[in-house]
Amino acid sequence: MPSIDELELYRMPIADGDFGSNPFPHFAEARKRHDWLAASDIGYVLTSYRAIDEIMRLDEKLTMPGEEIVDIMGARGTGWGDFAIEQMLVSSGERHSRLRGSMSSAFGPGSVKRLRPTMRETVSQICDEWLTSGNFDFTDFAAQFPVRVMFALVGTSTEKLPEIIEKLEIHGESFNLEVEKMGIIEDGYQTLWRFVDELIAERGSDAGPNTDNRDLLDTMIAANSGGQISDKELRQLLILLFAAGYDTTKNLLILLMNSLLQYPDIYRRCGEDFAYARKVVKEQLRFTTPSNTMRIVTEGFTYRDVEIPEGTMLVFPLTISGRDPELFANPMTFDPDRSEKHPTQAFGRGMHICVGQFLAVANVEEGIHIIAQRMKNPQLAGEVTWKPFPGVWGITSLPITFDPVEAPERAVEPA
Ligand code: HEM
Repeated sequence: MPSIDELELYRMPIADGDFGSNPFPHFAEARKRHDWLAASDIGYVLTSYRAIDEIMRLDEKLTMPGEEIVDIMGARGTGWGDFAIEQMLVSSGERHSRLRGSMSSAFGPGSVKRLRPTMRETVSQICDEWLTSGNFDFTDFAAQFPVRVMFALVGTSTEKLPEIIEKLEIHGESFNLEVEKMGIIEDGYQTLWRFVDELIAERGSDAGPNTDNRDLLDTMIAANSGGQISDKELRQLLILLFAAGYDTTKNLLILLMNSLLQYPDIYRRCGEDFAYARKVVKEQLRFTTPSNTMRIVTEGFTYRDVEIPEGTMLVFPLTISGRDPELFANPMTFDPDRSEKHPTQAFGRGMHICVGQFLAVANVEEGIHIIAQRMKNPQLAGEVTWKPFPGVWGITSLPITFDPVEAPERAVEPA
């Protein structure tokens, strides 16, 4: 039985700058050599939906790199370094369940449903502010939306929004291993720490006995005062939530707009029919999504006759695994009416599966439905530029023109 390092695999230049702008030909090449594996400079890449599905669930044999990244960055003892080693995504077992349990109830489908009016109001307000001309970079517009909903979720004003957006952008790139940026990464982390520290202080320590009315911040503060999570864990978790929800949701909305620029009829129908808009978001979750991830093997195992020893780095390209031709007919075609039912891998698999997935999907559903009503006939007006592929992937610039539509009269719906 061969070990993974004895296989003759296609080598993907996954970390190269231009790989992110079109990874698909490389995956097609890789599949000609091996049906589920490719090599790369940062680890072995799983090229098949099924292999990702089955391997990513082996939580007890895998871990997310934490200490390794902090050592490369020379960041031991810094706030960001502690975060990278201690955050929930790197934790396992009892600690992971304890941290996740401190907040998960605030992200269930019921809690998210109650937030939909806030999402609609937020996206309408951003349209009011931004649709003053008939052109902009859609990435700037989209950067406003999920983080404002998060601000609403923790019940704070948008005064600090520009500074927090800037620091979240820096934090989003902090896992790209650019050692020379460590100074600004730590500075950004400290700003985020002070921001969440003030949120907690403003709210006070008594979340009250009525668990039904608790928002996210109340829920987490109650877990802190009840001894479930420490003061430091509470702050680290809040930073994780802002960071994990910001870049990803923003990028999903941008990727969706990029897809729909080629399908104007589908875009138009998103504005007319909310149920259809939901189908379109579902298809986008197959087509291209924002978050790739990695694992180090902590206990060797065999998968489909290949030995994968301890210490192997595995890359899970969740962003495009929905284009696997083994499972999806005409995978390169965006088709909201397609019949395959394989669930999206955008939010991962196993114990770290995304806590915020219902919130993210609801944000993008509500967002595109209103955007398609307020921005008619969007057209690409310049070059589309892309982020590097590993980590949070997506579009860095999407210049468009459009016909703005005046805001309809709207009543503020009760939250
Ligand atoms: C389109 C938007 C989003 C995408 C594509 C996404 C994707 C992911 C993925 C792939 C993971 C698992 C990573 C891994 O196992 O290595 C994850 C975990 C996580 N996500 Fe999301 N996410 C999104 C939005 C959000 C939002 C809105 C929040 C919260 C506000 C959030 C909070 C989290 C947290 C806390 C984890 C860690 C869970 C754990 O360790 O148990 N995400 N997300």
